[in-house]
Amino acid sequence: MKTFLVFLIFSSSFLQTLQQQQQQQPIKNVVVLVLENRSFDHMLGWMKKSVNPSINGVTGKECNSDSTKQTICFSDDAEYVDPDPGHSFEAVQQQVFGSASIPSMSGFVEQALSMSQNLSQTVMKGFKPQNVPIYASLVSEFAVFDRWFSSIPGPTQPNRLFVYSATSHGSTSHVKKQLAKGYPQQTIFDSLHDNGYNFGIYFQNIPTTLFYRNMRKLKYIFKFHQYDLKFKKDARDGKLPSLSVIEPRYFDLKGLPANDDHPSHDVANGQKLVKEVYETLRGSPQWNETLLVITYDEHGGFYDHVQTPFVNVPNPDGNTGPAPYFFKFDRLGVRVPTIMISPWIKKGTVLSRPNGPTPNSEYEHSSIPATIKKIFNLSSNFLTHRDAWAGTFDQVVGQLNSPRTDCPLVLPDVAPLRKTETDENRGLSEFQGEVVQLAAVLNGDHFLSSFPDETGKKMNVKEAHEYVRDAVSRFIRASKEAMNLGADESAIVDMRSSLTTRSSNP
Ligand SMILES: *[C@@H]1O[C@H](CO)[C@@H](O)[C@H](O)[C@H]1NC(C)=O
Ligand SMILES: *[C@@H]1O[C@H](CO)[C@@H](O)[C@H](O)[C@H]1NC(C)=O
Ligand SMILES: *[C@@H]1O[C@H](CO)[C@@H](O)[C@H](O)[C@H]1NC(C)=O
Repeated sequence: MKTFLVFLIFSSSFLQTLQQQQQQQPIKNVVVLVLENRSFDHMLGWMKKSVNPSINGVTGKECNSDSTKQTICFSDDAEYVDPDPGHSFEAVQQQVFGSASIPSMSGFVEQALSMSQNLSQTVMKGFKPQNVPIYASLVSEFAVFDRWFSSIPGPTQPNRLFVYSATSHGSTSHVKKQLAKGYPQQTIFDSLHDNGYNFGIYFQNIPTTLFYRNMRKLKYIFKFHQYDLKFKKDARDGKLPSLSVIEPRYFDLKGLPANDDHPSHDVANGQKLVKEVYETLRGSPQWNETLLVITYDEHGGFYDHVQTPFVNVPNPDGNTGPAPYFFKFDRLGVRVPTIMISPWIKKGTVLSRPNGPTPNSEYEHSSIPATIKKIFNLSSNFLTHRDAWAGTFDQVVGQLNSPRTDCPLVLPDVAPLRKTETDENRGLSEFQGEVVQLAAVLNGDHFLSSFPDETGKKMNVKEAHEYVRDAVSRFIRASKEAMNLGADESAIVDMRSSLTTRSSNP
């Protein structure tokens, strides 16, 4: 009898909370910013000590040994990092498993050592909070997720694909052909569009969301905006769409430094971008309806001490990875920093595990489409089995009855960490090479036998930036013209190479 009463009381108050939550869902615009290649412990691990003790961070007792039994423990003297630690599928496998059969997070030093002597020190360093002052401020003011994993234990592109489509369509690495052709899967952009919601991509060099083939369709061409021209204006005018995606600068130029945090780029510039995005949103008439999500595609080879989940993680769509691993997409990647910002978030929130939808659910990149579907009550199906499984984070804005009025208007200033000048003559990183390849496809140059491998390889950062900028604007201009001429909105413009046909009116 007693149990029965308790159950009744519990279930009615549970229903009430559920109703309240549904009525009170205060968010009308979600803004997403994905930066590059840094682990949770590397960026935020030391904030346990000086910012918020409930964060699952580091104490300095986290160590990795190499095969010669040399041990390196986690330190707080991370600064400017160059070169880039390993984060391919094979490299991450070694980092996560070491010589164990479960994810023991013990192979980081050994893996780095296989690349270079100095790198084994580099991967075991985290930032002092004062060197990432924007994050220190946001973590103490808003919410940090200390159990958010990259979606696959591998590099940038497959992880970035998960953010908006909950799958990498079987890729565990950068599959150049597929990236150029465009990935065929449905995305959360399609779901929003089909349900009558708007979205916008605010890009700086090139929208990497064009790696999804659907995004190249004419119907979406007016969704792409130059960050510098439009983001602040749309925010000031209260015209930000339901979902805004901010794409960082991927090329490092004099006067226009890269701000994607990818090594060798200076994280101080990433901090400046986050500061600018925050202050812009804070000053917008839409602030009270906004949720900003900041995360990192993957850990970039840097150490993290939290075991990666490897039990009951669902394969998204039946695809498996290529030989020799035939990866089943049944475990997650390394933990990455994730911070959320909204006036509806309680100061100093730390979120770890989600409450469902299954007992094994975790926060990972597919939590983003899963939560967008929930917030906007989209009638579209889940994109894959993975976003159906991933935890949703809508409760991060469910704790308060009204928006806070004490959120800072301005964040601290950021000092540069890199002492040297930008080197525009540097060769391209693998990621930049893929971006050039995408530009070549947009520009029609990939039909040329010389492209994209040869031309891309010869380019330095400055040349690549110019090539990419021109290709993107040519593609967007031609798509808009085709749209105005009444072309089918599901068509994709196929450009003729400007390298062979120099038409003044493409
Ligand atoms: C490695 O570190 C040593 C001393 O810290 C330095 O002299 C050397 O140039 C570094 N090597 C590389 C490849 O960065
Ligand atoms: C946000 O809500 C707070 C509290 O209701 C209010 O004081 C403030 O003016 C609102 N801000 C905007 C930009 O509407
Ligand atoms: C969500 O959409 C469904 C129809 O797809 C509708 O029945 C339901 O009332 C909606 N919920 C809310 C909270 O708007």
